[in-house]
Amino acid sequence: MLYSRQDEYVKIDSKKFFEGMFVSADLYCRYRNNYVLVFKSALLTKKLIDKIKQLEFAYGNLYVEKKYHQRILDQFAQYEAILKKLEFDTNYTSIKEKTSNILNVVDKQNVVPKEATNIATKIIADKISGVDAAIIFQLINNVRDADEYLYTHSTNVAFLNGLIAKWLELPDGEISSLIAAGLLHDIGKLKVPPEILNKPAKLTKQEFEVIKLHPIYSYEILRNSGEINPVILSAARNHHEKISGSGYPDGLKYDQISRAARITAISDIYDAMITRRVYKDPHSPFEVLEEFSKGSFTDLDLDIVKVFLTKMPFELIGKSVLLSDGSIGKVVYIDPDDFAYPLVQIGPKVVQTNKTIKCVCMCNAEV
Ligand SMILES: [Fe+2]
Repeated sequence: MLYSRQDEYVKIDSKKFFEGMFVSADLYCRYRNNYVLVFKSALLTKKLIDKIKQLEFAYGNLYVEKKYHQRILDQFAQYEAILKKLEFDTNYTSIKEKTSNILNVVDKQNVVPKEATNIATKIIADKISGVDAAIIFQLINNVRDADEYLYTHSTNVAFLNGLIAKWLELPDGEISSLIAAGLLHDIGKLKVPPEILNKPAKLTKQEFEVIKLHPIYSYEILRNSGEINPVILSAARNHHEKISGSGYPDGLKYDQISRAARITAISDIYDAMITRRVYKDPHSPFEVLEEFSKGSFTDLDLDIVKVFLTKMPFELIGKSVLLSDGSIGKVVYIDPDDFAYPLVQIGPKVVQTNKTIKCVCMCNAEV
């Protein structure tokens, strides 16, 4: 698509793009004397923002049609305010950076930096006890790409472990251990060849056998680092066990699997399902709840799943959601018999979502 009326376009600054932002107008690059459409009203993920920056580097500035300029500026201001508030409440970005630093040390030195882990654990524990869980979910539920997977996933599993532990009313010490377990459960993946770990397609049987070693690697790195906390050790080694005994690496059955590993398995699946992969679209939190409630994961601890299904919907009510027709609304009701299709308010109208118009993902837009 080519455009040539130069006076109809205004430069915009891509530095103002935020992950989770839904851009409300088409953006253009200038190629020779024409404007070439580079991007149409999509949800911005880190990968997409990086791509836009590459295009900017190649073709110069980014433009928007003049009539949409103010709308985009208002959107930037709105997102900046929302994200500032979320960041202030949760420290999510700085916690993710801390997790990334921990993983870097493990990667380079094969040892877990205990003090850094304790600091990150304490910050997450404080946030979980002091902040409305809904705010944390607003960040966890943002769509993201798989290439930032490990440190974001580890951070999210730490938060989810902490929230589930809180919902189960476990003692503070166990909540903290479960948070640390979330941060460290997948460190063994750093020993898996990146071409297998980051393969942009489904794994072959042989590749999956290599992936299946990662809980053992996680456990060994922790043991070699002097870790003796059974909550952390068992969650790392056994978060892929199934209560039927068909999981890995040890093929443990229900009562042989520690509570920490059973909780971490739920957090792990929840976060993996809401992540975008090259070969799969992310599931919305509503679809994940539906899968949990349908018993699609019969190998999980169903008592803990039940608590998850009771508590989680409260965190989603009132949140902004992107629908498959491109509109953005606010979740107003989630039917416990039909988690996948909540009622969503769009402007003055309340819409019953369904197979055709469904919730795609949560987003940071204010509606
Ligand atoms: Fe894992």
